[in-house]
Amino acid sequence: MGKYRRHFTIVAVLVALGTVFMDWLLRTVLYLPPEASTQARIVDGLLRIHIALIAFFFSLIVVFVAYSVIVFRARSGEEGDGDFIHGHTTLEIVWTAVPLAIVIVLGFIGARTLNEMTAPQPNEMVIQVIGRQWSWSFTYPDTGITSTEMVVPVDQPVLLKMESPDVIHSFYVPEFRVKQDLVPGRVTEVRFTPTQTGVFLVRCAELCGTAHADMRAPVRVVTPEEYQAWVQEQTAQPADDPVALGQKVAETQGCLACHSIDGTRLVGPTWQGLFGKEEALEDGRTVTVDEEYLYRAIVDPDAEIVAGFPPGVMPQNYGELLSDQEIQALIEYIKSLQ
Ligand code: CUA
Repeated sequence: MGKYRRHFTIVAVLVALGTVFMDWLLRTVLYLPPEASTQARIVDGLLRIHIALIAFFFSLIVVFVAYSVIVFRARSGEEGDGDFIHGHTTLEIVWTAVPLAIVIVLGFIGARTLNEMTAPQPNEMVIQVIGRQWSWSFTYPDTGITSTEMVVPVDQPVLLKMESPDVIHSFYVPEFRVKQDLVPGRVTEVRFTPTQTGVFLVRCAELCGTAHADMRAPVRVVTPEEYQAWVQEQTAQPADDPVALGQKVAETQGCLACHSIDGTRLVGPTWQGLFGKEEALEDGRTVTVDEEYLYRAIVDPDAEIVAGFPPGVMPQNYGELLSDQEIQALIEYIKSLQ
């Protein structure tokens, strides 16, 4: 190595400079949303280690290649062969052992990180989450509140218990750096502790059908006082007005993911002006939309498909999911949308 010492010194300096530069560049160009939970800080710590390693290895390889190509290129008039190099045992051991050690250490740090992120916290607030095609609903067992937005106090550890009645969905809030699948027939859990007030967005991160891209819901992180006020407001709602109850059912049961109330064409027919209308069916018949038709359309949706809309999209189980009172309230709500 003696006669190459000068080259190695130059390369080492260039690799060091390259690492610093690439590390800076990657951190600058990689857009990360704000860190808004305890878990976000933990994940980003792990990410920073990876970015530093990526910067180092990128620089190591590129500098060696570029330096060799430039400094040891064949000059004009040079016709002979280069030095013949026949293996280097020490080098081969080093380049096997070092990456192996790095991968083992990263695996260890990764496992520790996962433990830290999923560790149960004292005073967790449990929220039951239903993710369905194509909406979210959040139920608070302590207060009985069901809502289409998630409202949580800042710095409050939250445990979500999540279920899906249809296909696989995935709960993802980028600012919290947590993502967890919802798997039919199982309850999956995810924990996070929000550290910043503000409005964030749950996105579904698993391709789940026609309106997957619209499967979003707001997550509002508020002060404890604002949270108490929200609970008061939610629990004080009178349930004796059928139209108001119907609206609540429509919002929390996911109806409005596919049926608009303003005439917009979504996956299913709009509810605006629906009651009393003559609808042409896929099978050529015509029906008048009255109470009986709406009831049938809710409990047995595929029996009479409105012309131009796909069959098999509306869940078949609303007859079991909703009480008769809720179905009647829904019909009253649809009647009110003239
Ligand atoms: Cu649910 Cu994508």
